[in-house]
Amino acid sequence: MKTTLTVIKADTGSVGGHNRPSNAMINRAEEVVQTGIKNGLLSDGRVTFTGDDIALLLVHTRGVDNLDIHKFAWDTFVETTKIAKSQGLYGAGQDLLKDAFSGNVRGMGPGSAEVEIEERPAEPFIVFAGDKCGPGVFNYPLFECFASPYHNAGLLLAPDMNAGFTFNIMNVNYTEGDKVICLKVPQDYYDICTLLRDPNRYVIENVVENASGLTAAVASTSRLHNIAGKYVGKDDPVAIVRTQKQFPSTGEILSPWALAHYTLGDNRGSHHVAVMPVKQNTIISYFDGPTIISAAGYCVHEGKLTEAVDFFDQPFWDYVREKASKKTLEMRAQGFYGPSMAGMDELEYTGVTENLKRLDNKFVVREKK
Ligand code: 13P
Ligand code: 13P
Ligand code: MG
Ligand code: MG
Repeated sequence: MKTTLTVIKADTGSVGGHNRPSNAMINRAEEVVQTGIKNGLLSDGRVTFTGDDIALLLVHTRGVDNLDIHKFAWDTFVETTKIAKSQGLYGAGQDLLKDAFSGNVRGMGPGSAEVEIEERPAEPFIVFAGDKCGPGVFNYPLFECFASPYHNAGLLLAPDMNAGFTFNIMNVNYTEGDKVICLKVPQDYYDICTLLRDPNRYVIENVVENASGLTAAVASTSRLHNIAGKYVGKDDPVAIVRTQKQFPSTGEILSPWALAHYTLGDNRGSHHVAVMPVKQNTIISYFDGPTIISAAGYCVHEGKLTEAVDFFDQPFWDYVREKASKKTLEMRAQGFYGPSMAGMDELEYTGVTENLKRLDNKFVVREKK
């Protein structure tokens, strides 16, 4: 049976600042999703939030890039925006960057990750959702869990994965269209590293298993800054990763997140902090951060989802959260100097550029003696 898993997420307003959507917004999104199930558009669906972003997990049979599904998600976010406005919430409709829906949410603000699958007898998968970060947050953990035996012991122990994986990588700063490159491990290992070392430009769009040709992972690639032409909030990406059997085990997929790697995001989308793996429905707090990532595990069978398993709600991750806090505080101690704040090409606030122009006019070139 062919099933499509679609995750579409957006920030349509939040309580207290950029912290979390209101309960009324979540309730409304849940009502709309239930209606979608009753009407037969969806076979199942879930609503969660990560920081100020609402993620819709929609299960259906209409394939990826389906107009009705994308319109359904857009309309759901229009509904949650109405509630945010009625409650006077901050950033109501923040990620809805176009006035009217036109065919597909891609390029309109919401982030999306979708995969059409032939359901395996057991179909476990993970939905990752980030807040206060760009899509490049997935470069390190996705590459490591598919390509490195340090995390994916299956590359050595399970013959299924010996042929490696294909990475489709997008240049997200190219705005004329989708500029992508297809590279494989093990043969293109160093070329992939050369690209993924720059997570603000090159991001993983999807990962395919070489032996079976099956899609293992898909991630959102939207950069709000490039759609809106100015800073309107951070991209806050989502990803779907299938696990077990021909794919890495669930634990192997989660393994790289224990590093709490540094990424660009946090306050005003302009600071480097450590990614904190958090429980579902975690809020944002310190310095409009830290950057957070949640991971919900499901199985899907004949289009129906099981209950979620909340992977970062486990004592091991308390230690990682403490480590992430320490790493973030170490970086924050350096304030705006050097690597603490984004480099000029990634600074999404125009204030610095304008101030530099003003100051440049005051510079004098000293006459040579
Ligand atoms: P199975 O042998 O049950 O597929 O599990 C392997 C595994 O996930 C170990 O991490
Ligand atoms: P969001 O993209 O999550 O709305 O965050 C915006 C921001 O600038 C926080 O400081
Ligand atoms: Mg926000
Ligand atoms: Mg957000």
